[in-house]
Amino acid sequence: MQSIKKMIRIKSKQDIAGIRDSGAILAATFEEIKKHIAADMTTKDIDDIAREFVLARGAKPAELGYMGYPASICVSVNEEVIHGIPGKRVLKDGDIVSMDFCVDLKGYISDSTITVGIGKISPEARQLMKVTEECLYKGIDKAVAGNRVIDISRAVFVHAKKYNYGVVREYCGHGVGFSMHEEPAVPNFISRGISPRLREGMVIAIEPMIMIGSDEIDVLDDDWTVVTADNSLACHFEHTVAVHDGYAEILTKLPD
Ligand code: MF3
Ligand code: CO
Repeated sequence: MQSIKKMIRIKSKQDIAGIRDSGAILAATFEEIKKHIAADMTTKDIDDIAREFVLARGAKPAELGYMGYPASICVSVNEEVIHGIPGKRVLKDGDIVSMDFCVDLKGYISDSTITVGIGKISPEARQLMKVTEECLYKGIDKAVAGNRVIDISRAVFVHAKKYNYGVVREYCGHGVGFSMHEEPAVPNFISRGISPRLREGMVIAIEPMIMIGSDEIDVLDDDWTVVTADNSLACHFEHTVAVHDGYAEILTKLPD
């Protein structure tokens, strides 16, 4: 009988170093975007900054062309949850903007998302951003060898539900590193059944997608942009993380 276990690809120390270098370029791209992002910019302007920044460093924007995706970065504003396609939309004061970016450096893929506010944002938006980022770090704390994926899921879910926030179920975090989406899926919610054990050398993207309103989402007619069904604000933070014995290592950050 065939095993139902799906293949989780373990990364060597050298592989993890490669993903770390990719992730450092990704983190630097966000620093560059944060320097420039402001009201009156279009989401396409962000796409241009991101693409040019990584190309100048010998890396590629891994999302461009992925399953036909037409841009270099995903930019999702306010009620847009994920996969917003950069275009003519003009940013305005009070918007919250999530930017989900993947870098391919010599075949090593890193994946990270930040959400930033434009100008003065509402207290509701500020709390959503704070709690979503806390969800991410609570999940990362559980990304340690010997735990299971569901320990990450539970940490994210329980924190979001303390605030009665909606949690996306249709999209999950994932293994990453050799390609953008690998096993295992890393849900932000809890379900029954066996959950994969985390082991030294696994590399996963943890990415809470949290909404002020209900758990429900819709997809727009462009077949990409995911929005909240009730038009409430959404937020997304993501890091690529290496699982180690006794600790989790964030790979999508600037070098120390
Ligand atoms: N980077 C996204 C993730 O976090 C996937 C984007 S899909 C793409 O998994 F088509 F835009 F690349
Ligand atoms: Co991801």
